Amino acid sequence: MNNSRAKNLWLLIIPALLFLAAAVCAQGYITKVEDSGFEKHTRPAVSFAHDAHNEAAGIESCNTCHHMYEDGKLQDQASIGMECSSCHLDGYSGRLELIRVYHLQCKSCHLDQKAGPVQCAQCHRKEE
Ligand code: HEC
Ligand code: HEC
Ligand code: HEC
Ligand code: HEC
Repeated sequence: MNNSRAKNLWLLIIPALLFLAAAVCAQGYITKVEDSGFEKHTRPAVSFAHDAHNEAAGIESCNTCHHMYEDGKLQDQASIGMECSSCHLDGYSGRLELIRVYHLQCKSCHLDQKAGPVQCAQCHRKEE
C-alpha cells in the first residue's frame, strides 16, 4: 500500500473511532425524552438533561422515576433499561395513557417542589 493510500484510510478510521467513543460516553446522558412508544410526535422533543437534572433536583433514587411494582407495592429495584412505554402503553388509549403518566410524573414533582417547568413550551422546547 502506498503512503497516500494509507493516509486516506486513517482519514476514514479516525472520525469513525471518535464517533464510537462519543457514543459510548453519551450512554446514560440523554438530553431529550423521546420514548419510542410514540409513533409520532406532535410537539417538540422534551428537554431533559438526565444526569444534570437529577443532580440539580437532588433525586437520590433511580426508582423515583424508573419504578417497579409488585402487587401494587413499590419495590426497591429500579426498571433501568426499560422505557416507560414498555409498561404504560396498554390498551386502547395507549398513547393518551403514556402522555398522562409522563406529565403526571414530571409535573407533579415540579408542582410539589415549586421548582421546574410546568408549562408546555418550557418542556417541549423548540430548537433554534
Ligand atoms: C414537565 C415537562 C412537561 C410539560 C410541562 C408538558 N409536557 Fe408534554 N410531555 C412531556 C414528556 C416527558 C413527554 C414524553 C415525550 C416523549 O417521549 O417524546 C410528553 C409528551 C407529550 C405529548 C406526546 C408526544 C408528542 O409529541 O405528540 C404531547 C402531545 C404533549 N406532551 C403535550 C403537552 C401539552 C399540550 C402540554 C401543556 C399543556 C405539555 N405537554 C406539557 C413533558 C412535559
Ligand atoms: C426524574 C426522573 C428520572 C430519574 C430520577 C432517573 N431517570 Fe433515567 N430516564 C428517565 C427518563 C424519562 C428516561 C427516558 C425514558 C424513555 O425513553 O422511556 C430515562 C432513561 C434512562 C436510560 C436509558 C437512556 C440512556 O441514556 O441510556 C438509562 C440507562 C437511565 N435512564 C438510567 C438511570 C439511572 C441509573 C438512574 C439513577 C441513578 C436514573 N436513570 C434516574 C428519567 C429518570
Ligand atoms: C416495569 C414496569 C413499569 C415501568 C418501566 C414504568 N412504570 Fe410507571 N407504573 C407501573 C405500575 C405497575 C404502576 C401502577 C402502580 C399502582 O398504582 O399500583 C405505575 C404507576 C405510574 C404512575 C402513577 C399513575 C397514576 O395513575 O397514579 C406514573 C405517573 C408512572 N407510573 C409513570 C412512569 C414513568 C414516567 C415511567 C418511565 C420513567 C414509568 N412509569 C415506568 C409500572 C411501570
Ligand atoms: C422527583 C422530582 C422531579 C421529577 C420526577 C422531575 N423533575 Fe424536573 N426538576 C425537578 C426540580 C427540583 C427542578 C429544579 C432544579 C433546579 O433547581 O435547577 C427541575 C427542573 C427541571 C427542568 C429545568 C432545568 C433544565 O434542566 O432545563 C426541566 C426541563 C425538567 N425539570 C424536566 C423534567 C422532565 C421532562 C421530567 C420527567 C421525565 C422531570 N423533570 C421530572 C424535580 C423533578
